[in-house]
Amino acid sequence: MNLAEIKKQVIQELGGIKNTVDLEQLRIKYLGRKGRLTLILRSLKDLPEKEKRKSGEGANELKREIEIMISERKSEILEKELKTKEGKIDVTVPGTKVLRGHLHPFTFISRKIEETFQSMGFKILEGPDIETEQYNFDALNIPKDHPARDAWDTFWLKPGSQRSKAENQKLLLRTHTSPMQVRFMEKNNPPFRIVIPGRCFRYEATDASHSHTFYQLEGLMVDKHISIANFKAVIGEFLRRIFGRETEIRIKPSYFPFVEPGFEVDMRHPSGEWVEIMGAGMVHPNVFKNIGYVPSQWQGFAFGIGIDRIAMLKYKINDIRLLYSSDLKFLNQF
Ligand code: FA5
Repeated sequence: MNLAEIKKQVIQELGGIKNTVDLEQLRIKYLGRKGRLTLILRSLKDLPEKEKRKSGEGANELKREIEIMISERKSEILEKELKTKEGKIDVTVPGTKVLRGHLHPFTFISRKIEETFQSMGFKILEGPDIETEQYNFDALNIPKDHPARDAWDTFWLKPGSQRSKAENQKLLLRTHTSPMQVRFMEKNNPPFRIVIPGRCFRYEATDASHSHTFYQLEGLMVDKHISIANFKAVIGEFLRRIFGRETEIRIKPSYFPFVEPGFEVDMRHPSGEWVEIMGAGMVHPNVFKNIGYVPSQWQGFAFGIGIDRIAMLKYKINDIRLLYSSDLKFLNQF
C-alpha cells in the first residue's frame, strides 16, 4: 500500500468516527507500534540511502498530517459531546465551595487606623526597626543611667556591626516608635502633623496583653497654639471613627521623659476591664531644644498607640498571642 492510498483511507475512516474510543483505535491502526504507517517507516531502513531519504520524507510528512487530522477530529468530537445530553452541564448539581481569603484582622485595622489619621490631615511615615541608642533614648530626654530607661526592656544588638561602627553608636531593636519624632523634626520645621506606624520590640515576658513584638502608631502634631484640648479632640475623633460609637476612655497622669505633662489613655474592653491603649503628652521643651527648635515658639502633642490593643478591643480578642498565631480556626472568624 502506498502513502497516497493510506492517506485516502485515513480520511475516509475519520469521517465515520463518532467517539474518542474509535478515534484511538484508528490512531493505533495507522500510527501504533504495529501500525500501517509505522511499519512502512520501519521498513525504510533496508532501502538504499537515496531512496531512503526520498520515501522517508514523504512518510514522515504523512505521519504529521495524520496526527494533525486526528487531533482536529478529537476536538470536534469533544465539543459535540459537551452539547449532547450526557455531556451537558447540570446546573442543579451543588457547586464546590470556593474558599476566599481575606485580610488578617490586624492588617485590616492597621489600614483603617492609617486612613483615619490621613483623613484628619496627618502624613504617614515609616522609620527603621533597628535604632541607635541616641534616637531611642538620649534625644528623647532619657539619658544613660536614668531610671526611666527601665520602663523599656531592651533587646541590644551585639556591637561591632558596620553600622554601629559607622555611627559610633550602640544599636538596639526600637522599643517604641518615638525615635521617629526626633528623626522627623531634625529635617522638618513646624507646623506639621505626622503618624508613624511600626513594629516595636521589648525584652519582656509575654502574657495576654503583652508581646515581645508588637505594633505602635506614633503621632506628633506641632504648631503655634497646640493644647491638650487639641489632643483630646483628635483622639476622640479617631476612636469614634474606629469603633463607630462613643467609647469610654479615661486619661490618667503618667510619666514619660519626653513629654510634660504626660498621660496614659485607657479604654474599656467589652469585658468591663480597662485596657491601656496609649501613652501621650505635650512635647517636652528639652526635646525641642535638642533638635534646635525654640521651645517658647512651638507647642505640640505626641502619642504612642498600641495597635494590637486597638485590634483586641475592636474584635473582642482577649489574648494578644492569637494575633500572632496564624491559627486558621481563629482567623476564619473574621
Ligand atoms: C511608649 O512606648 C511611649 N513611647 C508612648 C508615648 C509616645 C508617650 C509619645 C508619650 C508621647 P508605653 O510603653 O506605655 O509608651 O507604650 C505605649 C502603648 O504601646 C501602650 O499603651 C500599649 O498599648 C502598647 N504596648 C506597650 N508594650 C506593649 C507590649 N509588650 N505588647 C503590646 N502592646 C504594648
